Amino acid sequence: MHQAPKVSLNNGVRIDQLGFGVYKVAAEDSTALVGTALDAGYRLVDTAALYDNEEGVGRAVRDAVAGGLDREDVFVTSKVWNDRHGFDSTLAAFDESMDRLGLDYLDLYLIHWPCPERDLYIPTYRALERLYHEGRVRAIGVSNFEPAHLERLLDATEVVPAVNQVELHPWLQQDRLRARHAELGIHTQAWSPLARGKLLADPVLASIAARHDRSVAQVVLRWHVQLGNLVIPKASSAARIRENLAVFDFALDDAELAAIAALDRGERTGSNPNAVN
Ligand SMILES: NC(=O)c1ccc[n+]([C@@H]2O[C@H](COP(=O)([O-])OP(=O)(O)OC[C@H]3O[C@@H](n4cnc5c(N)ncnc54)[C@H](OP(=O)(O)O)[C@@H]3O)[C@@H](O)[C@H]2O)c1
Repeated sequence: MHQAPKVSLNNGVRIDQLGFGVYKVAAEDSTALVGTALDAGYRLVDTAALYDNEEGVGRAVRDAVAGGLDREDVFVTSKVWNDRHGFDSTLAAFDESMDRLGLDYLDLYLIHWPCPERDLYIPTYRALERLYHEGRVRAIGVSNFEPAHLERLLDATEVVPAVNQVELHPWLQQDRLRARHAELGIHTQAWSPLARGKLLADPVLASIAARHDRSVAQVVLRWHVQLGNLVIPKASSAARIRENLAVFDFALDDAELAAIAALDRGERTGSNPNAVN
């Protein structure tokens, strides 16, 4: 069984470098699919209030713990949705997420989008700080924050986000943001790390994959790992779930990394963070 290495966040909490994302996993499939991922060796699950599957995710984690896995060995992330921004509203949204998950504490809680037009991400983050200081969540962070959102947050709040989870893949490499994260001690977590499957037909990636006798998905996930990204691919079959975790036993060389670096074209598969409100 493969397992992802863990790295330390800026508060010392250990996080898996590769976990399982569950966006668009139907509520009724979520317990079985997360169970499959845990059986395959995944120890991090990335959900959100928006995904409407926190209940199933929580059940899978509780089932695994009942079956002998230590709760401390599983890392669960959730996120506050855009319509719950604001201090009190975020605290209430967190309670609702925890009720759905059925867990005593959360490992990582993120602001899903900055929603700059709402202009409430500062009080929203202060609610996350409260939850962090109360010990209800082990680490807090943000998602889809652009450099300007981050700078403003850092000026107005105390706890440096542990993570900024952003769209990132070979077509959208986010070099500037990653460099700023490195200066600030924030981990970059890549969502849609496979560009939702769209880049799997890329000929450059296909030739690298053929050279290593690996799939294109594995090459892309290996590239993320070598860049130092945290990564949370989603897949719907046991075979793909296993395949995506089996990326810690080969390495891309400098020429291959350079060839992938050249694929950056600033192309999003999801929304522009400044346009989501
Ligand atoms: N914070 C945010 O705003 C945000 C936004 C989007 C996503 N996310 C998080 O990031 C996670 C991953 O992103 P994502 O789900 O959008 O996209 P993704 O992980 O880049 O791609 C998932 C797609 O790739 C396919 N796929 C996965 N592994 C494959 C393999 N080995 N071979 C061939 N195809 C494969 C999947 O197909 P099948 O499902 O058919 O297997 C699915 O269609 C989400 O689940 C969610 O947790 C966060």
